[in-house]
Amino acid sequence: MSRFKVAKTADIPPGQLHKVSVEQKEIVVVNIDGNFFAMDDTCTHAGASISDGKLDGSTVTCDWHGAQFDCKTGKLEKFPAKINDLKSYQVIIESDDVFVEV
Ligand code: FES
Repeated sequence: MSRFKVAKTADIPPGQLHKVSVEQKEIVVVNIDGNFFAMDDTCTHAGASISDGKLDGSTVTCDWHGAQFDCKTGKLEKFPAKINDLKSYQVIIESDDVFVEV
């Protein structure tokens, strides 16, 4: 596993979903009350970009059909059909840099 610098902390204010590309993966980095989390940006239902969704607390709702995922874990919270969780990634903050471990 390697770590990649993806942003400055100031680039991702609280309540923001921030899409980045790392090693040909699309990842969304989320700031929840000053804590940063990362998970795959591609919805496991039909491929929408999770970063286009709506964040409420730590829950993001996919813009296309409303699947809800917990941004802290990537786990599916609510959807009528069984779909996979989003893969989550470790986020490391050093000084004001945001790194994701992929
Ligand atoms: S693509 Fe995300 S809920 Fe359908």
